[in-house]
Amino acid sequence: MQTILWLHGFPLTAAIFEKQRDLDGVQHVMPDLPPLESMDDYARFAVAQLDERGIERATFAGLSMGGYISFAVMRLFPERVAGLILIDTRETADTEEARKGRYENIAKVRQQGIAPLVDSMLPKMVVDEALRPRVRELMMSASPEFVMAALKAMAERPDSTETLRAIRVPTLVVVGEEDTITPPADAERMAGAIAGARLVKLPNAAHFSNYEQAEAFNAEVMRFQ
Ligand code: MLT
Repeated sequence: MQTILWLHGFPLTAAIFEKQRDLDGVQHVMPDLPPLESMDDYARFAVAQLDERGIERATFAGLSMGGYISFAVMRLFPERVAGLILIDTRETADTEEARKGRYENIAKVRQQGIAPLVDSMLPKMVVDEALRPRVRELMMSASPEFVMAALKAMAERPDSTETLRAIRVPTLVVVGEEDTITPPADAERMAGAIAGARLVKLPNAAHFSNYEQAEAFNAEVMRFQ
């Protein structure tokens, strides 16, 4: 049976994949990410999840920050990657301005906890306001320690353009048409740079497209497997 290792984004836990965990015919590994120093450390953590279960290769499905981790896995452990599902993510590094914003957010989280950050990000995560209370709960389930560590790891992550060009495994790139954090233009550029990649743009979805349009997303994953 194929394995999909699901890597969540920020600020989140693996619960953001609650609408994927019942997908049939696939072994799912859905770890909560701990606070770690760098994308390389997160890549080692991800591969350790496979080691613990005696799994040689998996499809890495990365949502946003999970995509950044998947690129680090491609650099460090390409032999462990059977396929890639890149969801609402991008290969480029932060701009100076974005990096500065990350460090400001670390200071804010240290002082005020994660609620103000979650509330400022929530409208960008899903278009459908009816989904926001549950999505807010999912975001609030992240620990402040993880949120601060993730902000630093994202701020310091390298550009993955060359990594992307070297990808030779089946790749599905998915983006919500209303995603303003990692917009469709990012997904188009990534899919264009990866040999044979399939690009799917989901209407009526923002940054958490796997959650907001779970049925269409899941159909694409099943088709890809
Ligand atoms: C995520 O969803 O993981 C983050 O919004 C990504 C980012 O801030 O770059």
